[in-house]
Amino acid sequence: MGLAISGGGYRSMLTASGFIKEMDNYGIFDCLSYISGLSGGSWVLMDLLSQNFNVSSLLSNWKLNDGLLKGVPDFDIRHHDIVSGMEEYEDALVKRTVSDEGALRQFFYNFEESLQLAAFLFQEDDEQKRVTKRGVGPLAKIMDFFLQRNDKQEEEDLDDNENSLFGSIQSLHQVIQFYIDLHLGIRPKKMQGFTISFTDYLGKALKKKLSNTKGQSSSFSQLMMNSTKFQDFKAPIPLFIANCRNEHLKNVIFEFNPFEFGSWESNLGLFVKMPYLGSTIEAGNPSRCINGFDDIGFITATSSSIFNNVLIYIWQLTAQSSRETMRAVKNIMSIFGLGNGKLDEKSFRPTSLNNLDTDYAVYQPNPFYHYPGINNELTQNDYLYLVDGGEDGENIPLRPLTIPQRNLDIIFVIDSSSDEFNYPRGKKLKNVLHQLQNEEIDSHSYSIPDFDKVNQYPIALGCYQPHLPIILYHPNAPHSYNSNTSTFKITYNESEVNGMLQNGRVIFSLSSNPEHMDCIGCLIAKRRIEQVDKSRMPKICRQCFEDYCH
Ligand SMILES: *[C@@H]1O[C@H](CO)[C@@H](O)[C@H](O)[C@H]1NC(C)=O
Ligand SMILES: *[C@@H]1O[C@H](CO)[C@@H](O)[C@H](O)[C@H]1NC(C)=O
Ligand SMILES: *[C@@H]1O[C@H](CO)[C@@H](O)[C@H](O)[C@H]1NC(C)=O
Ligand SMILES: *[C@@H]1O[C@H](CO)[C@@H](O)[C@H](O)[C@H]1NC(C)=O
Repeated sequence: MGLAISGGGYRSMLTASGFIKEMDNYGIFDCLSYISGLSGGSWVLMDLLSQNFNVSSLLSNWKLNDGLLKGVPDFDIRHHDIVSGMEEYEDALVKRTVSDEGALRQFFYNFEESLQLAAFLFQEDDEQKRVTKRGVGPLAKIMDFFLQRNDKQEEEDLDDNENSLFGSIQSLHQVIQFYIDLHLGIRPKKMQGFTISFTDYLGKALKKKLSNTKGQSSSFSQLMMNSTKFQDFKAPIPLFIANCRNEHLKNVIFEFNPFEFGSWESNLGLFVKMPYLGSTIEAGNPSRCINGFDDIGFITATSSSIFNNVLIYIWQLTAQSSRETMRAVKNIMSIFGLGNGKLDEKSFRPTSLNNLDTDYAVYQPNPFYHYPGINNELTQNDYLYLVDGGEDGENIPLRPLTIPQRNLDIIFVIDSSSDEFNYPRGKKLKNVLHQLQNEEIDSHSYSIPDFDKVNQYPIALGCYQPHLPIILYHPNAPHSYNSNTSTFKITYNESEVNGMLQNGRVIFSLSSNPEHMDCIGCLIAKRRIEQVDKSRMPKICRQCFEDYCH
């Protein structure tokens, strides 16, 4: 059995968490062999891993009322300039937030440099002293800047959004400290000579959301090796899903599992052992051995890299109006003591990264570099660009579970994609099914149901195709709560959290409906019963198959 959790930001994370808790109530979660997640869905995996798969405490350590990132106000950032085009994300036509690549790269180095400087300023206990010692008092300057900005805002008679936005930035120092901490967390990786990207910052931020990870190693493979539950086969194998974006190759699915990283798809078909991710390997021969590159935050952030834009957004927001982005960045740079474009030439500027985009996760060195017999974008460069798992328009990490070698009987899907009013209408599932049809060689593939008739209740696919796993698809729907919050809503209060979780529970069990639960049992057991003796199929199951199978 497998479970696939779609993307959809906190909406997906919350809905899927409720779903999983209800699955666990019925003892079904413990039976899963695999659990795959992408984007917001991958956050559930990270949370599960951080507490050794204890479903009861799922989300209990995740600070939900505090925003995804410090200083990000509680409103839908999708409607603001910096993320214009974000709605397109849902259709996988992601328009990049900053179209001028040169400017973007510049922005990234400025971002880094300013954090570096800020870290330096803040590092001594006697902060004030250091600041005065420097004469210019940059900290005071920053404070002035923000205070002035606040006054100016009020004068300008802005709308409510803008006001609450500054109201929610409670303490500038706290906010800046948050980003400095991120920066300090990333420094060791950079010092080792690795190329870093916004995704590294997002990864640190995501890990900070979990209050219980202090002192825990961050290595994905180590976490799994240390988990007795996992080692005793009592927990599902987690699969984090990302896409690639290397020149012309866009929709190649990559997976991170506790053992390996790589892709099943025909244009690669290679994996590298997870503990050695980050090692220098050329033509399959390792030369420099690295451990610990497989940071759980970094992997999760890779799968959800679309949220890099949130990070960029707040950084710009704290500086200036989002409409004057680049000017704002320049301003803050000068406040931090960096002149216009006056960057250290010896800064860690990578030379080979020509198409760096906001949502890229840079994997350099590329473990598949010059691998013999494969000559395409995935092996030609010593770096690999990965992006959010939802950017191929599928948004449901289903394909990695249909791999025949995984031999699954049934795959549960909890889909919190946004097709219409932030509810799914089967569009992403349709995309996946089309993709599977394209790949299928022996024409045993899923038929595509009429989604207009089924948009509230679970449906089953592939029931009568014994070579395929049954897909039990659950759309997010407003059963007990209006669960169509925006993908980019990143703060939830307690009652919202409870509403979302409860609704996720109802999606799974339809409020503990006994007939429904019987039918889930029938669907789970269908393949095995058929293998033994079809005639032993319980009578009630026949009705279930009629009702659920499309
Ligand atoms: C799982 O979490 C619950 C709630 O936080 C806790 O009461 C329980 O002891 C935990 N179980 C294990 C095995 O750690
Ligand atoms: C795993 O166990 C080893 C040895 O006990 C320890 O050094 C390491 O920090 C542990 N890692 C995690 C992720 O707990
Ligand atoms: C939620 O769905 C309703 C229709 O069911 C729609 O009117 C509303 O705008 C949606 N809310 C969001 C945030 O998309
Ligand atoms: C939580 O947010 C909702 C809006 O979604 C609001 O109606 C409610 O009053 C808030 N509750 C608290 C305790 O702030």
